[in-house]
Amino acid sequence: MRASVPNRGRFITLEGPDGAGKSTQAQLVADTLRAHGKEVVTTREPGGTAVGNRLRQVLLDPQTPLQPTTETLLMFAARAEHVAHVIEPALAAGRWVVCDRFTDSTFAYQGDGRGIAKGAIETLAAFTHAHCWPDLTLCLDVPPATAAGRMQERTLDGFEREDDGFYRRVREGFLKQAAREARIVVIDGSSALEVVSKAVQHAVETFIRRTEAA
Ligand code: TYD
Repeated sequence: MRASVPNRGRFITLEGPDGAGKSTQAQLVADTLRAHGKEVVTTREPGGTAVGNRLRQVLLDPQTPLQPTTETLLMFAARAEHVAHVIEPALAAGRWVVCDRFTDSTFAYQGDGRGIAKGAIETLAAFTHAHCWPDLTLCLDVPPATAAGRMQERTLDGFEREDDGFYRRVREGFLKQAAREARIVVIDGSSALEVVSKAVQHAVETFIRRTEAA
């Protein structure tokens, strides 16, 4: 959110339910930025640092389900390390950061999915990264049935074993946030890969033009 600081990089996040194809599109976002001469750091949550990756293992372990409160606090603990050691330094050095998931996921998964109060998540977000919010968020939207079909092909982590009701709430949570926040662009992730990729590229190029005109 300090995008007006000269030479500061921009922070772009990818969001959406599991099985939306975020990882493929995160790579495309980074390639598009590099083609426009930007220096890019790609990263993901939970994770992105040594401690963050250890917390990721705890968070995604299907053998050790956590209390929703614990899960929320650990997401923010990993995020605090990530913001301090990776995201902020990169942005301050003029690099563009492409991050696969950030606090919008906590609102959707822990908030809408698990029932943690939105106000508690807002407080933790302000405590953890008050001055570091994404400048652009691409939310890949897929209906739960499409997501479930795509996930059948891989080994499932703790979150990916949740029931349909959980996924419906998570998806609706993302769409509600997108309706509230102008920085979030919703892209239909259920179309053919080339169609989704074109929409992602268009959104990124539109954003680059906007930053250059500012
Ligand atoms: P992700 O790395 O996107 O999963 P995958 O590698 O399987 O594509 O995210 C891991 C899981 O963590 C995903 O199910 C969503 C969940 N998550 C939350 O519940 N809250 C959060 O704040 C974040 C960042 C992720």
